[in-house]
Amino acid sequence: MNNVLEKIQNLKQRYEAVILAHNYQPGEIQDIADFTGDSLGLSIKAAQTDARVIVFCGVYFMAETAAILSPEKTVLLPEKHAGCPMADMITAEQLRDLKQKHPGAIVVCYVNSPAEVKAESDYCCTSANAVEVVDSLPEDKKIIFVPDQYLGSYVAEKTSRDLVLWPGYCPSHMLITEDDIKNARASLPGAIVMTHPECTKPVRDISDQIFSTGQMLKFVRQSDAKRFIVATETGIIHSLKKQKPDAEFIAASQKAVCPNMKKITLEKVLWAMEDFAKASSKYQVKVPDQIRKRAKKAIDRMVETLPAN
Ligand code: 13P
Ligand code: SF4
Repeated sequence: MNNVLEKIQNLKQRYEAVILAHNYQPGEIQDIADFTGDSLGLSIKAAQTDARVIVFCGVYFMAETAAILSPEKTVLLPEKHAGCPMADMITAEQLRDLKQKHPGAIVVCYVNSPAEVKAESDYCCTSANAVEVVDSLPEDKKIIFVPDQYLGSYVAEKTSRDLVLWPGYCPSHMLITEDDIKNARASLPGAIVMTHPECTKPVRDISDQIFSTGQMLKFVRQSDAKRFIVATETGIIHSLKKQKPDAEFIAASQKAVCPNMKKITLEKVLWAMEDFAKASSKYQVKVPDQIRKRAKKAIDRMVETLPAN
C-alpha cells in the first residue's frame, strides 16, 4: 500500500470515519471509498451511518446535504471549492420571488441546490426519485420545480404535470449532443444508450433508458446485455467496468467531465483528515441551524416517502 493510502486508512480507523464517494469521482477515490453511489444513495448512507466523521468525496451540495441530515457528525469536504454550477444557478431570494408569483404552489427542489433553497422548498428530490416525488403531489396543486430545467422537463413529460421550471442546467451534461449519441451507436452497434435526465430533450429522446447514476449501475448489474453507451459524466465508467468487467462501456462524449468532481485527490482526502486530527475545522461543512432545520424537512419528506432505487 502506498504511503498516502496507509495514512488515510490509519486516520479512518482512529477517528471512526467513513468515506463516501459519488459515482463521478476519480477512480482512485472510488476505490478507497466505503460506499460509492448516487446523490440519493449517499444521502441515505450519510443519515444511517454510525461513523462520527464523514469524508465526503463529491461536490459541496452533497456534503451540505449530509451535514443537514446528520448535524451530530463531522462532515469533511476535501476540496471546499468543489461546487456545482447548477446548484449555484438559483438563490433563496430568487426562489422566494418565484413563490410570490405563484402563490400556493408546491416547491420541489432538486438536491443539486444550496441549503437555503432547500429551506424554501416543500420537497427535495434527486434524479432517482424526482418523477415519484412529483407524482405523489395533489393533482390540483401547481408545482414549481428548481433549478434544473432539463430534469424538470423530463419529470413534466413523465408525470403529465405542467411544472413551473427554472432555467438552470448542468454545464457538463449540456456538452452531450444528439450527434454524440448517433456516433456512439455507430461505433458500438447494438449498445443500450443510458442517459442521465440532466441531458437535453433531443439527447433523451434518442436514448434507450433515462437513469440516475445509481439506476445505471443497477440496470447494468441486472442486464444480460454486454454493450452500453453512457450519456453522463465519464467518471461512472470506472464503477460500471468494475461491476461488469466483461461488458463494453463507452462514454457518449469524452467532453462530459465535471471539473468540480475531479478536484478531489487522494492527497486532499489525507490533508482533510490530518487537519481534522489537529482539531481544525477548515474542511468541515456546517449549515446554520435555522436553515438546516427547514432544509431537513424537505429532504426528510423525500427520504421517508420513497424507497431507494
Ligand atoms: P445522480 O444523483 O444521478 O448521481 O446525479 C448527481 C449529479 O450531480 C448529476 O450531475
Ligand atoms: Fe453539478 Fe453537473 Fe457536476 Fe453534477 S455533473 S455536480 S450537476 S456540475
